[in-house]
Order: sequence, then C-alpha cells, then structure tokens
Amino acid sequence: MTSILAIESSCDETSAAICRHGKILSNVIANQKVHEQYGGVVPELASRAHIQNIVPVVDAALSTAKCQLSTIDAFAFTQSPGLIGSLLVGSQFAKSLALALGKPLIAVHHMQAHVLANLIDDPRPNFPFLCLTVSGGHTQIVSCESPTKMKVIGETIDDAAGEAFDKSAKLLGLPYPGGPLIDSYAQRGNPKRFQFPEPQIPGLNFSFSGLKTSILYFLQNAGKSHVYKEENIATVEEQKTFIEENFADLCASIQQRIITILLNKLKKAAIETGIKDVCIAGGVSANSALRKAFEELGKKNHWNTFIPAFEYCTDNAAMIAMTAYYKYLEKDFADLSVTVSARAKH
Ligand code: KG4
Ligand code: ZN
Repeated sequence: MTSILAIESSCDETSAAICRHGKILSNVIANQKVHEQYGGVVPELASRAHIQNIVPVVDAALSTAKCQLSTIDAFAFTQSPGLIGSLLVGSQFAKSLALALGKPLIAVHHMQAHVLANLIDDPRPNFPFLCLTVSGGHTQIVSCESPTKMKVIGETIDDAAGEAFDKSAKLLGLPYPGGPLIDSYAQRGNPKRFQFPEPQIPGLNFSFSGLKTSILYFLQNAGKSHVYKEENIATVEEQKTFIEENFADLCASIQQRIITILLNKLKKAAIETGIKDVCIAGGVSANSALRKAFEELGKKNHWNTFIPAFEYCTDNAAMIAMTAYYKYLEKDFADLSVTVSARAKH
C-alpha cells in the first residue's frame, strides 16, 4: 500500500492531502481571507500566509487520515504553474520531509492535477478523454491518453475563464474572487436579458478580453450599447442605478456568455477528436450553471460526462496526491535540487 503526502500552495490556498494506493484519505484546505480587501491575490501576503498555515494543515491532513509521518512512502508538491513565493513554501516543505525521512520526492504540474481530479471518485472517465480545465489562471481543452500523457489542444489567447468571472464581478462592484458570487446572484437572474458578443476565434482557442471590454462599455453606457461612444457615457449615478436595478440579470447574462464560449469550443473539440468521455475541471467547474449546461450538452451529444466533487474543483492537494500516485507507479521522482516555475510547460 503506497501512501503519499501531497502539498498544494500555488496560489492562495494552502492544502495537504494523503492518498493511499489511489484513494484519498484526507484533503485539508486553508483559504486565505487576507486578499479580499485588495481585489486580488497579493503574492507577498500569500507566501506569508502559506508559511503560517503549512504546519497545521499538514498535521490536520495526517491526523484526519489517521496516518503517521513515518509511514509515508513519498512526498509530493505543486511545481508549476503558480506564484513563485507560494510555490517555494510548499516545495521546500515537501523537500525537507523527503530529505529528513529518506523518501522520494514527486513534482506535480498543477494543470495536470486539475484534470486528474476526475479520477479521484467513481465513476471515472475511460481513456482517452477530453477535459475542459477552467481556472483563475488557465482555460484549456486537454486530450488525455493516460494519467501521465496529455496534450493541450486548445487554450485561451488572453484572459482565463476565471479571470473573466472575477474581472466582470469587479466591474459590478463585487469583491475578489467574484466568480462564486456571480454564480449565486445569477440564480435569481434572466440569462437571456442582455446579449454580450461571442468572440470569433479560430480553432479550439478561447478569448475573454473582448467580453470584459464589452461589459465595461455596456455598464459605462448604462445598458445602451456594447461599444465605446463618448456621447453615450452615462453619469456615475446613472451607471450605479443601472447596475443596481439589473444586478441579477447582468450576473446571469455575463455568466451565460462565458459558459457558451466554453461549451461551444468543447463541443467542437469532441466532434473533431471523436472522443465521447468528456470532463470539466478547475475552479470555474464549481459554477452551478456551467455544471448544468455541461451535463445537458453531454446528454444531447451522447457523451459520458464527468465533473469532480466541489472540493476537488478549486485548488486542493487531493488532486496533487492523485497525480503523484500515477507518477509514483512510473517511478517518476524529482531530484532534491528541483526548483519551481511560475509558468507552465505543456
Ligand atoms: O482552480 P482555482 O481554484 O485556482 C486557480 O488555479 O486559478 O480557480 C479559481 C477561479 C477563480 O477565478 C474563481 O472566481 C473561480 O475559479 N470560481 C468560480 C466559482 N468558484 C470558483 N467561478 C464561477 N463560479 C463559481 N462557482
Ligand atoms: Zn488551480
């Protein structure tokens, strides 16, 4: 029985998980509230919070799993992508444990781990499968041949889907991260009320920066148009009133457009590849309307659809542990001199 302790610290969640032979025994996540007041993650504060959180989070993961540190067979950490200062905390902690206990070290790619969150619980997709991975930093369609062999076949050329949610939320006056707030306000709104333009990007790539700009102009014009015209700009008071009076419909319509951009490309990818097992993953896959629209699209197109449980959608160490387990089986270990990287290599 192989036991792995994994640490995730790529952004603003400090998380530790224990996996025994491919089964998750614990997944402890400490969120960092300190960033809310700044409208986004402050890297320096994130690193400091990781340093405060990491010991209690690892202790809690071990005790929840009823596991002794001495019985762990390998230590895993998120190597990339992410904030350097944040990644360094998790990587150094995992390295120190591996060194002290003389056990192998496993370096995990965060985006690969988001995809493999779909293998944590039953039912699991069969290979090959497609995965739409939508997070705060990435938006990708990945074709997966095996747990360790995957290829990005489409990705965003500018903002990620999570950024589209968070930046739109900011324009509506919501705090960071606005994605989950848009999700809840949208439940009371009409998604067809406002039509935001869909970008025309060739192939399987995505773009969200145009949507953000059109939302900005739409709010500045108090709903008159999506394009910039100086004479249409409303007063600050008029803009505020427009947002207040149409708040739920704005949330629902923005959310709807983000979802159609994502799912239209996923459908195209499924047609082009002929793959019928289709998953979603990443923080934005926690979005209730996306989950519903994805299931409906799957039913219509006779796909087998898979979505991770909520706790495995946003950043968590269980997905790192799961990925590390497959790497362990292939003896894909990292040297103790391994370093972290802000940018992902595909
Ligand atoms: O995967 P994740 O936890 O962290 C990154 O690796 O980026 O994703 C975070 C992103 C944020 O942009 C957040 O607003 C978004 O996921 N998110 C949501 C929801 N829950 C999290 N977006 C829309 N609806 C949600 N329910
Ligand atoms: Zn993530």
